Amino acid sequence: MKAIILKAIGGPENLELVEIALPSIKEDEVLVKVKAISINPVDAYARRNQESLNNVLQLRGDEKNIILGWDIAGMVTEAGPAVTRFKVGDKVFGMVKFVGQANGYAEYVAAPENDLALKPGNISFEEAAGATLAALTAWQSIVTSGKVKKGDKVVITGASGGVGHYAIQIAKHFGAYVIAVASAGNRDFVLGLGADEFIDYQTQAFEKLVTDANMVHDAVWSDDERHIERSLKAIKPGGRLLSLIVNLDDEMLEQLKSKNVTGYWVRVHKSEDDLAAIAELLATGDLKTHVSQTFPLEEMAKAHSFIQTKKAVGKIIVTV
Ligand SMILES: NC(=O)c1ccc[n+]([C@@H]2O[C@H](COP(=O)([O-])OP(=O)(O)OC[C@H]3O[C@@H](n4cnc5c(N)ncnc54)[C@H](OP(=O)(O)O)[C@@H]3O)[C@@H](O)[C@H]2O)c1
Repeated sequence: MKAIILKAIGGPENLELVEIALPSIKEDEVLVKVKAISINPVDAYARRNQESLNNVLQLRGDEKNIILGWDIAGMVTEAGPAVTRFKVGDKVFGMVKFVGQANGYAEYVAAPENDLALKPGNISFEEAAGATLAALTAWQSIVTSGKVKKGDKVVITGASGGVGHYAIQIAKHFGAYVIAVASAGNRDFVLGLGADEFIDYQTQAFEKLVTDANMVHDAVWSDDERHIERSLKAIKPGGRLLSLIVNLDDEMLEQLKSKNVTGYWVRVHKSEDDLAAIAELLATGDLKTHVSQTFPLEEMAKAHSFIQTKKAVGKIIVTV
């Protein structure tokens, strides 16, 4: 089968298309013929940074020609004897073996059944592949940690990206009032997803315009200023701060305490229940994946070059 190996830590050019043997499955795994793969910023971090790679794939550090990728959608072609939920021919999607080594950039992937859900019939493989790591992150931020409820005023930063575009829709589904923070070019996109207000971060400081949010979903990496401190300013006492980028250090926790704000460091993790909830919203059309660009497997390097520009709108998908 075709697969993309990472020859060495470095640029996208280190991703190489090769022929390798089909993976074998364990008792509780299915073999998935992959149709679409979702690309996330973590794929590019792992590709260029040995420490990230070791962490996210649980490696020793001396392995060669490893295969990245966790987010897949495809068709079951074989099922292990202990598999109860899926059969050959089922169309499935999921975030496979994260954190760990899923070998997702390949034509076939061996996936534990608990990492998968049935693909709703109303969406494409590309749309299903998108709604994996990014959608789970948005769900675990807004619902699991934030416990969003009707009428909450929710600020979503990074609103036009993979995670943000799901976070808007999930918060709206639960009846929140959503303020989306993105660049001007993505105004219509985020309002079209249901956001009630838009703030252009390039010309306006959201923390000056909003100071009474019930929660802020902070998903923006900033080198110069601590974005998280700006997010805290936008939250009213008693509110919640959802940090996707930075761990909340002692200094930050002290600031949160003095304002009576509860902070959460959101780290996406596998959850059969969360994936099932996402599948349900996809099936009803309450959650949609916006696929802005697709690349064939052979052009994985181009997909990586694009994701690391931090300009992805919605999801970047590789088709197999
Ligand atoms: N903690 C976790 O478990 C977890 C899980 C998933 C992702 N993450 C992190 O969360 C972040 C978002 O992930 P993602 O998948 O949504 O990424 P993404 O799809 O690459 O996000 C791209 C979006 O980021 C926005 N952006 C770029 N620079 C910005 C800036 N300076 N200020 C505000 N917005 C900016 C862009 O919006 P505009 O074009 O409108 O500027 C673009 O639409 C990444 O850093 C990712 O690593 C964390």
